[in-house]
Amino acid sequence: MAKKLFIKTHGCQMNEYDSSRMADMLGESHEMELTENESEADVILLNTCSIREKAQERVFHQLGRWKHLKEKNPDLIIGVGGCVASQEGKAIMHRAPVVDMVFGPQTLHRLPDMVNKSANHEKVVDISFPEIEKFDHLPAPKVEGASAFVSIMEGCSKYCSFCVVPYTRGEEVSRPLHDVLKEVEAIAAQGVREVNLLGQNVNAYRGGVFTGAVAAASANTNGLGVIISDAQGNDINNTGDAEDYADLAELITRVADIDGIDRIRFTTSHPMEFSDSLIDVYAEVPELVSHLHLPVQSGSDKILSAMKRGHGRDEYIAKVKRVQQIRPDLCMSSDFIIGFPGESDQDFQDTMDLIAEIGFDMSFSFIYSARPGTPASDLEDETPESVKKQRLHILQDRINQQAQDIARKMVGKTETILVTGKAKKHEGQLQGRTENNRVVNFMSDDLSLINKFVKVTVEESLRNSLRGSVVDPELAY
Ligand code: SAH
Ligand code: F3S
Repeated sequence: MAKKLFIKTHGCQMNEYDSSRMADMLGESHEMELTENESEADVILLNTCSIREKAQERVFHQLGRWKHLKEKNPDLIIGVGGCVASQEGKAIMHRAPVVDMVFGPQTLHRLPDMVNKSANHEKVVDISFPEIEKFDHLPAPKVEGASAFVSIMEGCSKYCSFCVVPYTRGEEVSRPLHDVLKEVEAIAAQGVREVNLLGQNVNAYRGGVFTGAVAAASANTNGLGVIISDAQGNDINNTGDAEDYADLAELITRVADIDGIDRIRFTTSHPMEFSDSLIDVYAEVPELVSHLHLPVQSGSDKILSAMKRGHGRDEYIAKVKRVQQIRPDLCMSSDFIIGFPGESDQDFQDTMDLIAEIGFDMSFSFIYSARPGTPASDLEDETPESVKKQRLHILQDRINQQAQDIARKMVGKTETILVTGKAKKHEGQLQGRTENNRVVNFMSDDLSLINKFVKVTVEESLRNSLRGSVVDPELAY
């Protein structure tokens, strides 16, 4: 009987992508099948997040809850991956002896080997940063549905003063352009219509382009079209001169050319690297959605500077305005950190003013959490927790209100949605997502519309979704 794999994922979309690749990996090497039921698993993996203290605590609570499974089945293998693994390493096993394997975000491709060792009751820790090697060893991805993530780069070199990512995921490393394009082609052939290009800082993407002598090595692939080394056996990722790189703008243009791909998103980008070439792509590539997630964190210049974000409030506004000029229907979302050390009432007000000025539609907003080892963790923090909670509440209320306004303005308009499946609660209805990621439910029993783009007229805006009707099912593509 096939061995069963249970994966629990905490944190960001990068982790979700990595988890699905872990399943692909062990599916191929050990013919493991995913299960939703942890008590029947032979291998349990926890893909962790350390962005805030609460996320980190969840890891040990979760491991505690799995202790009884190990007592029942001593052959059960428990592995911890992701950013907490990267940060804590072997210490995880001291605190949670049920753990057999600890692996970082860059070593998940070595899982098959680690599982073999663990099966012999050997404890394994591998949290090294072997650059982007992992992608060369992953099997072709399996996707379900018409929307998929594709990781294009790893790590971050920005070192914002509050953030652990550069320490847990390493510095920025981009996958070669052709490697990414091959992956998109492979998933487009499986029916994917929408890709979300992923990375901690995707607009820092600089993917190697094979030219001249290096191109000769392109025959040297691992059978999946992924280049493993050049003629001399050197890893050719990230080699070459400046002109041998494609930036995010070029990558988007090339992805848009791939048959079947009609919608492109990217997450997450940094305002500092929101380049002119990327802004131009909004004019040139209609497949790129009019929905931009561009984290600003704060609207106060003083706080932005203390966060070491590398830009001020006005620069942010100027860049957004330029995209809005090209795409007047642009929907904006952002991450916010509330209660960064030294945030005064005025600083918070600056953030609220910025929210009104940009008209943000959605946010990931959290109270600042001091992370060990980051420069900001040493800063004096005098704002009481109750004030921070109140500020967070005010901010989230305001953004929700703006989101409702935007949804109401969509009523009467025609939107193109990517149909994802049957509506969750409503019999006889299908649902899909607009460019700005809103769910639209509509009456239809035509299941052939699923995974296609369909034009709908929005008829009503409800609390968490929209209701619409199909303009002409014949126009579905
Ligand atoms: N690359 C992205 C951020 C990735 S981290 C960028 O350019 O901003 C995801 C989000 O987690 C950040 O945007 C930030 O809002 C939040 N975050 C990171 N460190 C945090 C901390 N110490 N406390 C609270 N939120 C934090
Ligand atoms: Fe973190 Fe700043 Fe990079 S928030 S992921 S260090 S851009």
